[in-house]
Amino acid sequence: MTDTSLSPQGTLVPWGDLRMASSGRLGQALTFADLRLMAKARLPKPIFDYVDGGGESELTLEWNRSAFDELAFRPRTVAAIADRSTATSFFGRGSAAPFGICPMGGLGMLWPKADLINARLAARAGIPFVLASGAGSSIEEVAEAAPDGRRWFQLYVFTDLALNKRLLGRAQTAGFEALVVTTDTQINPKRIRDIRNGFALPMKLTPKNVLEFASRPRWLWNIARDPRSALMGNLVQELGADPSARNAFDFFRANRKRSVGWEDLKPLRDAWRGPMLLKGIVTAEETAKALALGVDGVVVSNHGGRNLDGTLPAIEALPDVVSAAGGRIPVFLDSGIRRGADIAKALALGARAAFIGRPVAFALAASGEAGVEHVLAMFHDEVDRVLGFLGCTRVDQLDPSYVVRR
Ligand code: GLV
Repeated sequence: MTDTSLSPQGTLVPWGDLRMASSGRLGQALTFADLRLMAKARLPKPIFDYVDGGGESELTLEWNRSAFDELAFRPRTVAAIADRSTATSFFGRGSAAPFGICPMGGLGMLWPKADLINARLAARAGIPFVLASGAGSSIEEVAEAAPDGRRWFQLYVFTDLALNKRLLGRAQTAGFEALVVTTDTQINPKRIRDIRNGFALPMKLTPKNVLEFASRPRWLWNIARDPRSALMGNLVQELGADPSARNAFDFFRANRKRSVGWEDLKPLRDAWRGPMLLKGIVTAEETAKALALGVDGVVVSNHGGRNLDGTLPAIEALPDVVSAAGGRIPVFLDSGIRRGADIAKALALGARAAFIGRPVAFALAASGEAGVEHVLAMFHDEVDRVLGFLGCTRVDQLDPSYVVRR
């Protein structure tokens, strides 16, 4: 594997010193499925299901996967591939690999200080990390943990424009590079597993949940070390006297804007100095409107199949969005990435980079910091390997001729 990569600017973008675990149970975890099972063994059922599950019948959750599996590679087998690089660039900066970490709230339920772990390891790897609005750690804590990292901030739009602007101002002051506005979650999703499990944020201490928690003592002991793990770091300073998790979630629910139009995005565009992306776009029509708004990128996403069940899979939505973007802005993708090969398929169909969510969440739940290091190194190794197999030395050589629908 090549360890360093040349950015288009010609500067070295090192992959960092991240390594896969070579021993113990983590060393045996060679696939997403392995990490998922480790997480399942460790987490109380309601929490595992919250991460693992999707909306309603989980059709989109499944299609996100099957659509990747229906794409086959068309490798070029006779090629000079010794000098390979996984590096790419967007918004004028290099990234050591064509992937980053998705915004995810609630990770503190999986492992203490989860967001800080993710931010630090993404920075070490040289890839972007997206901090969720509802994350456990705050904008400022993440900036301190990963001062040199590419840190992006995900916003759920709040009703009060002044509150949105305060959050943007804090992210700007803390050196966050990009703003990612999520567009696909104005409606509360119907997640059957969560309803059946009585899952709520923050977790309630019902007799059933107490039994579930008690059945996972290793998890309980670990989480109990960090009494702040259920908080919403970014909202603490908005909450005044009672920054408790209960109050944070009530505030979040009461103040989220439940209907966000293009006119609501305009003031955010005007307020944010730097790249702004919309996450949740799956059609050419909305890509055209995003361009008219003046965004700098879109993330093709169906929220990991967690929201509108029946939405088309992200990898199938990608070509239309790429074509509507017409090379004017980079297009990214999340939802369904489970291995390096999926990233290569997304790049072949025009994505600049992909974002991974559940693989990181399960790695965290399985083994904390060691787990995240392991999964990032694994994805990097897989991307490099697939690139070589395809007969490419640079990620920008991938184009639609490298894949075909079976
Ligand atoms: C929140 O964004 C979730 O997907 O649970």
